[in-house]
Amino acid sequence: MWSPERYQASLRFAAERHAGQTVPGTHLPYLLHVTSVAGEVMRAIVLEPVAAPDLAVVCALLHDVVEDTPTPLAEIAARFGDDVALGVAALSKDAALAKAQQLDDSLRRIRACPAEIWVVKLADRIVNLQEPPAHWSGDKRRRYREEARQIHAALAPAHALLGRRLDERIDAYGAFLT
Ligand code: NI
Repeated sequence: MWSPERYQASLRFAAERHAGQTVPGTHLPYLLHVTSVAGEVMRAIVLEPVAAPDLAVVCALLHDVVEDTPTPLAEIAARFGDDVALGVAALSKDAALAKAQQLDDSLRRIRACPAEIWVVKLADRIVNLQEPPAHWSGDKRRRYREEARQIHAALAPAHALLGRRLDERIDAYGAFLT
């Protein structure tokens, strides 16, 4: 089981760093995304356990802190440990690369991490495969679903339950394609 103290410390840190940010296309706090991913991870690892539940839950809460805020990785390492910092680094796109290479690069780095990090990425895309913002074009939606298929192909072996859930969400996303 994960530690409630570590859960609270990482949730608070994420709340501070994402303060003022909103879920794209809404007026809702960005923390909604982060806690949804953590909830998806927590249910999954109760039903199908992983070796290090704390690593999965803490990385779920912190997974966008480096990509979307000015937080340096060294601060994550100092506060939450090197295993968490390595996971968050792998879950962050490398903005120095061309956009077309960012997903492949991130998936390669995630696959070099323990299964707990694969689990966070699967949960992230499961949560994100909801109704897209109205302004997204058909092409963008199709690309997003194609990316989800790539994530599934690369990471589903780490967690059968989340693999099935992602598969279902990919199918359901078809309703948003025009
Ligand atoms: Ni995310």
